[in-house]
Amino acid sequence: MKGVFITFEGGEGAGKSTVARRLAAALQTSGQEVVLTREPGGTQGAEAVRGLLLDPATQLTPLADTLLHFAARADHVARVINPALARGAVVICDRFYDSTMAYQGYGLGVDKAAIVKLIGLVGLIPDLTFVLEVSESTTKQRLASRGNAADRYELMGAEVMARIAAGFHEIALTEPARCVLVDANAAADAVFARVAALVAERLGL
Ligand code: TMP
Repeated sequence: MKGVFITFEGGEGAGKSTVARRLAAALQTSGQEVVLTREPGGTQGAEAVRGLLLDPATQLTPLADTLLHFAARADHVARVINPALARGAVVICDRFYDSTMAYQGYGLGVDKAAIVKLIGLVGLIPDLTFVLEVSESTTKQRLASRGNAADRYELMGAEVMARIAAGFHEIALTEPARCVLVDANAAADAVFARVAALVAERLGL
């Protein structure tokens, strides 16, 4: 039995977590076993790495940052994602390796070919990836309305953020069989409806 692996990607305030939660609930209601998880994180060790990565006080070079994301990912894939897929579950992950390519590769200038090698080493490719896109003004509004302290990545400047957004866009266009670009400026209900329709159409769920 082989499950299905769905990932949600995008910049800050794109609404990934909300739509991922709604999709998980809808698939659960239809009788699927669903594992909803996130990166960085998803296991005890990877959540500890997440704390370090998001802490604004942490100082890391872009390469060290990249390797820590992959350390967390290797643990998460081996302990949670692969076993769930082997049981036949639907695994929904809030961010996965496209975030490393966009943030550390496009955003922070880490060698993209090296990131591709690390992706190969972990060895798991999503069946379907939603890349949620929002305008700069929507991002600002949504981050401001959250009101919590900015994490280490949210403190990166506008130029880095623009490179990350362009990176996500390029990734989605380069891999149309796996990735779908979703305009996430729309109301949450409309974004969810589009995602649910695509999951039905592409995966038959
Ligand atoms: P989020 O789960 O609230 O989106 O926060 C995770 C942060 O970590 C977000 O700013 C993006 C960043 N990140 C990377 O820089 N590289 C990665 O590979 C992943 C998974 C996340």
